[in-house]
Amino acid sequence: MAVKSILKWAGSKAGMMPALSGHLPAGDRLVEPFAGSCAVMMATDYPAYLVADINPDLINLYRQIKEHTRLFIVLALSLYAQNKSAEDYYKIREQFNHTASLTLLERAAYFLYLNRHGYRGLCRYNGKGEFNVPFGNYANPYFPLEEIEAFAAKAQRATFICADFRETLSLTRTGDVVYCDPPYDGTFTNYHTGGFDKAAQRDLASMLTSVSERCPVIASNSDTPFTRSMFNAYELFSVNAARSVGVAAGEGKKAAEIIAVRGPFAKANGIHS
Ligand SMILES: C[S@@+](CC[C@H](N)C(=O)[O-])C[C@H]1O[C@@H](n2cnc3c(N)ncnc32)[C@H](O)[C@@H]1O
Repeated sequence: MAVKSILKWAGSKAGMMPALSGHLPAGDRLVEPFAGSCAVMMATDYPAYLVADINPDLINLYRQIKEHTRLFIVLALSLYAQNKSAEDYYKIREQFNHTASLTLLERAAYFLYLNRHGYRGLCRYNGKGEFNVPFGNYANPYFPLEEIEAFAAKAQRATFICADFRETLSLTRTGDVVYCDPPYDGTFTNYHTGGFDKAAQRDLASMLTSVSERCPVIASNSDTPFTRSMFNAYELFSVNAARSVGVAAGEGKKAAEIIAVRGPFAKANGIHS
């Protein structure tokens, strides 16, 4: 059974892996330009991973856990133990946003604390780049000890980079498998201050088409006329995903998604089953 992710994350693929994993062929390395909670890394078994995201707090968390697992756990546990009220939460959030002297290890522990104590695990920043999610008011926030340990073990075969997807895709090489899970067209896109507009979606689709000359490419997105036209030269699979962020009131918690697949070895690897 797949291990759960350390973080709560909007758009996590944890619940989608049964639908997704059949589309991920074998390869030397999985490249994930939009890694988010690393649910895909944790549910797969590639010899190596290139894990990238534009969010520096996220990538710092992963690097600190990889390099300083025990110290990170001790620090994060003591933050949980000493900061339980709303007042404590806002004090930690204030320090996270304004204390330049926090070490990278402290920043990583604060980020986990904020993710698990903030409202619905949202990760949202204002225009000044300040984390601005309100207190979540949970009776007993979960400490993901088992998930941190499993992550730290797998992270030894991963490289973590904080990068825009354009830079990550430029690092791909033959033998890689590329899985892209960007902010979805028409849904929550404010993971970081830059957002993700239609021009970014088009850039992504066009870069993926060139990358697919050398590597299998698999991309998730919402199922809209826009995404279908962007991926019209791809094999498309429809899936229904549970979604908690980005679904309008009254639409329920299900959203139609597509998985777009294209690549030089696609048929040989049996992706298009
Ligand atoms: C839908 S989430 C990915 C979820 C991930 N697959 C999971 O299972 O948790 C999209 C991610 O893209 C990242 N992102 C947004 N804009 C980006 C960009 N221009 N380049 C790279 N990453 C970006 C966000 O920080 C967010 O983590």
